[in-house]
Amino acid sequence: MDAAELVARFSAAVDGQGEYSHKAAVAIINEIKEDLDEVAGAMSYLTGSGGNALQAFYRSENLSLLKVRFPNGRRTPPHDHGSWAAILMLSGSERNSVYKRNDDGSLTYERSVDLEPGSVFFMPAGAVHVAECTSDDPAIGLHVYGGNVLGVERKMWDPDTLKEQELDWSKYEDLARRASAADGAPLA
Ligand SMILES: [Fe+2]
Repeated sequence: MDAAELVARFSAAVDGQGEYSHKAAVAIINEIKEDLDEVAGAMSYLTGSGGNALQAFYRSENLSLLKVRFPNGRRTPPHDHGSWAAILMLSGSERNSVYKRNDDGSLTYERSVDLEPGSVFFMPAGAVHVAECTSDDPAIGLHVYGGNVLGVERKMWDPDTLKEQELDWSKYEDLARRASAADGAPLA
């Protein structure tokens, strides 16, 4: 398996599926999770940390594929994705804390889910989460999104004040640094 095969399988699955594209993508994730080492190998050429342009190996209007790598101690600020999102954990472990966005932009904490290699975690469009590495080794996963995740309007929340703002990559790292310095995910 190589990255081109992953791209081909996911794009063939979601194309033309419209509002059901998430089901098609999750079906592919459930097929490839039987070969975690193969999936990790296909993305091994992707370097760097975080979930940004360096880790994206495919983006289109209806699909993005990223290898996301969070080192120990890394926690994201609360954010959304502008589309549905699905994670296949490949190595390490990661805690996802999920929030409901209220009409006024405030957040209500809902639950936390711990992911291990082989775990599949799905978030519908509009879901807000915090992801954090909970292992000594980096938490590495294949992240699949139902849109151009680095090109659509998204929201992020200040981890200290929980104030909603546009996701702006030039400001994101400051929020991530403060989120990582905290004892846990906000409100959790
Ligand atoms: Fe995310």
